[in-house]
Amino acid sequence: MKIEWLGKNTAKGAAVVLPVFQGENFLGEEGKKVDAQLQGRLSAWLGQEVCCNDKGDTFLLRSCQDDLPDLFLLQFGKREKLTVQGVRFCLGQAVRALEKAKVSQSIFLFDELDLPLEESAYEAALGAILGGYRFDCYKSKKKETVLQKLFFQTRQAITPSLEQAMQNAIVTAEAVLQARNWVNQPAAVMTPEKMAEEAQRLATLHGMDVDVWDAARIKAAGMGALSAVAQGSEAPPRLIVLRYCGGVKGKPWDAAFVGKGITFDSGGISLKPGDGMQEMKDDMSGAAAVLAAMDAIAALNLPVNLLAVLPCAENMPSGKALKPGDIVTAMDGQTIEVINTDAEGRLILADAVAYARHEGAQRIIDVATLTGACMVALGRVRSGLLGNDSAWTDLIVAASEQAGEKTWLMPHDEEYAELLKSDIADLKNTGGRYGGMITGGLFIGAFAKETPWAHLDIAGTATLLKTSGAWVKGGSGAGVLTLLEIAKSLVRL
Ligand code: BES
Ligand code: MN
Ligand code: ZN
Repeated sequence: MKIEWLGKNTAKGAAVVLPVFQGENFLGEEGKKVDAQLQGRLSAWLGQEVCCNDKGDTFLLRSCQDDLPDLFLLQFGKREKLTVQGVRFCLGQAVRALEKAKVSQSIFLFDELDLPLEESAYEAALGAILGGYRFDCYKSKKKETVLQKLFFQTRQAITPSLEQAMQNAIVTAEAVLQARNWVNQPAAVMTPEKMAEEAQRLATLHGMDVDVWDAARIKAAGMGALSAVAQGSEAPPRLIVLRYCGGVKGKPWDAAFVGKGITFDSGGISLKPGDGMQEMKDDMSGAAAVLAAMDAIAALNLPVNLLAVLPCAENMPSGKALKPGDIVTAMDGQTIEVINTDAEGRLILADAVAYARHEGAQRIIDVATLTGACMVALGRVRSGLLGNDSAWTDLIVAASEQAGEKTWLMPHDEEYAELLKSDIADLKNTGGRYGGMITGGLFIGAFAKETPWAHLDIAGTATLLKTSGAWVKGGSGAGVLTLLEIAKSLVRL
């Protein structure tokens, strides 16, 4: 599907998407024109409030005349409650309805919304692309995409900044779709090596430096935790390091983005129950989000210096696998008693965060499908956030709100960290059942030391069970939009 500004031009035969609002049979200028053509039938019909009463609902009025377009009513809810993110939601709903109705071209009328045009156009394009996503590369019978063109129409002049807003939305949405594709691919395809190939492919496209470390280099660098997690698998680990210098050359990294890249999490020797284990192919969603966000940031040429560190490994049981009771040494020399091999994410992130700190990152954020406890606490609605520096976590909370990705800041009292003390090593890798999201996060924080650090647990949001608005069932690409907004905020610092 292509999205374009139509301006004052016309696109013959394209179905018109007309925004309507709850409790209003009032029509804007465009709607009135259509109403006049229909001899007042539209306003009479709207007055009855017969259907499409819920936000995001659509209703199709097929034209029976050659000179009249098909009309799609799109419900935006209460006019005074509508936000630009509501526009994202509604357009996500609309593209699926248009596709279902086999509409090939459509025009969305912006002038019916009284919202800032640039922002709502950005959100509308984002919603349309994200909402129209399908992962069907393994379906032998693929559905052809019918909706080829979506035009945005306004009476206002199409300024370069309006064009830019749309382009930015397209680049951003494509990055999210890329992350979704990676997450939806089976673990047999998305191996650590494949992740590295993808990073190399994107880095050459948009001018980032990429460094891929193999098992020997990982070990030689002293990354004993990442090595230990990988040792049970036939698939060799990779540490992917991306460097993007859009800001002042020679200045330290404004931030490091660190993403958990467990391409399959069986639990290892602390094997998971079989039920639902297939979902653990999504355990590289953090790495996918970081990689996709870096790609968008580079494509948008944002003036920041960013380091991305993606530890990638498969967590498997075998005769060579890491065992409960083993002690591993992370890159910064801290020793870890492994209580549970299923708490592997924090192990690989310990090395990655230590490396980011070693590289002089001024701030660190790690993104990870880290704990079932996060899902217990926040469900599939919000990601969990944790950090050691309120200026940094405030920035992230604001960025996530701007991004339309819901997060919740968790507490991090000293008492929680005490649960990670080991009798025989510096730390142990689990802090018990209760407060599991917090102790899991704080474990990683121990490797950031005094560097401002935050942890985003996307265990509940990386895979969605239902389609709604811009969100589509399956891998969600959670974190991409937040990381991008964080980068934009860093530019403004
Ligand atoms: N990848 C899982 C977390 C997870 C669970 C994500 C369910 C999405 C859905 C992680 O590696 C894990 O296994 N965590 C354990 C930690 C525990 C052993 C301390 C968990 O949450 O059960
Ligand atoms: Mn695990
Ligand atoms: Zn895991």
